[in-house]
Amino acid sequence: MKSLTAAVALIAPVQAGLRFPCSTLTVQRLDPVVEPGALPAAHVHHIVGGNAFNATMEGDVGARATCTTCQMAEDFSNYWTAQLYFKHPNGSYHRVPVIPVQPLLGGSQGAQAGLTVYYTQFDLSRDNLAKQKITAFKPGFRMTVGSPTNTGKPRVGIRYQCLQGQNRGREMDDFPTGPCSGGIFTTHHFPACWDGKNLDSPDHQSHMYNTVTYDGFMNAGPCPASHPVRMPQVAYETVWDTRQFNSMWPSGTPNPFVWSFEGTGGGSHADYMFGWKGDSLQRAMDKSECFYDGCGSIVKQAMSVANQCKIKETIREDVVGWMMKLPGR
Ligand SMILES: *[C@@H]1O[C@H](CO)[C@@H](O)[C@H](O)[C@H]1NC(C)=O
Ligand SMILES: *[C@@H]1O[C@H](CO)[C@@H](O)[C@H](O)[C@H]1NC(C)=O
Repeated sequence: MKSLTAAVALIAPVQAGLRFPCSTLTVQRLDPVVEPGALPAAHVHHIVGGNAFNATMEGDVGARATCTTCQMAEDFSNYWTAQLYFKHPNGSYHRVPVIPVQPLLGGSQGAQAGLTVYYTQFDLSRDNLAKQKITAFKPGFRMTVGSPTNTGKPRVGIRYQCLQGQNRGREMDDFPTGPCSGGIFTTHHFPACWDGKNLDSPDHQSHMYNTVTYDGFMNAGPCPASHPVRMPQVAYETVWDTRQFNSMWPSGTPNPFVWSFEGTGGGSHADYMFGWKGDSLQRAMDKSECFYDGCGSIVKQAMSVANQCKIKETIREDVVGWMMKLPGR
């Protein structure tokens, strides 16, 4: 019996944690984490997830929302990043569309634009739950990673890749310096150590602590005494479809893509608003050796259903282009 178990373990495709697509919910100047109540917020965001998304979000989001653009039907969280724009040599801006990430398995499964979300316990192939328990976020929890005011290099885990067809190429800390035939791939990894007390902090970051020192889906090192609670490692992947702009990028000139705050590479950032229903995220995190879906512990919906989840537009303005200046600038 023992040898049979070992043989099965060897051939079983082991993938840990959760990985799932979310379609685009809205592209607007709203930011309930950094600028709660602001109508409009300072710059445009690309937002996915539950329909409780609003200028102000307090309390238990998962109890309030009624639908989500994410594949995991019990996940009413919201996930967002700045929106990417192309700046034409003539000075006009145009929004860069998003296309679903093509995962290594299962294709995009019908997602419309959006981004791919990960919650990993250890790394991409192991969960190591026997060694370390993962505690899910609490209702009301929120955090950000990166900052629009950063002009230096972004921290580890905030990266750019130049897609040539399906080939992702190496991870870089700034925009690609030449056209990418498959678009620009951005990654945002969040820290995974919590202070155990605060659902937020004045800078939306200091209640969390980052112990990751390598790019990629690596295990975060042990949490410090100041931030002792080990949380899931959250990451977003987005594919910006820059293809229609490549012919407008004069050869030999610098990168023409800017974030919606007119920012370049170092200002890449992302926001997270927890909204899983009840204990659904904890249930999934407690599962061992799962194939990216919590081993059936959480309910999945077809992306054709997820795509029907909509919210009303609150900020009425053109965020697509061509426009002479970025919205809010
Ligand atoms: C958003 O907030 C406004 C004002 O507080 C409220 O009227 C509206 O119902 C909220 N929308 C959602 C989807 O919660
Ligand atoms: C810049 O070029 C784009 C693409 O050809 C065009 O649509 C836009 O109107 C131009 N803007 C100006 C100010 O000429």
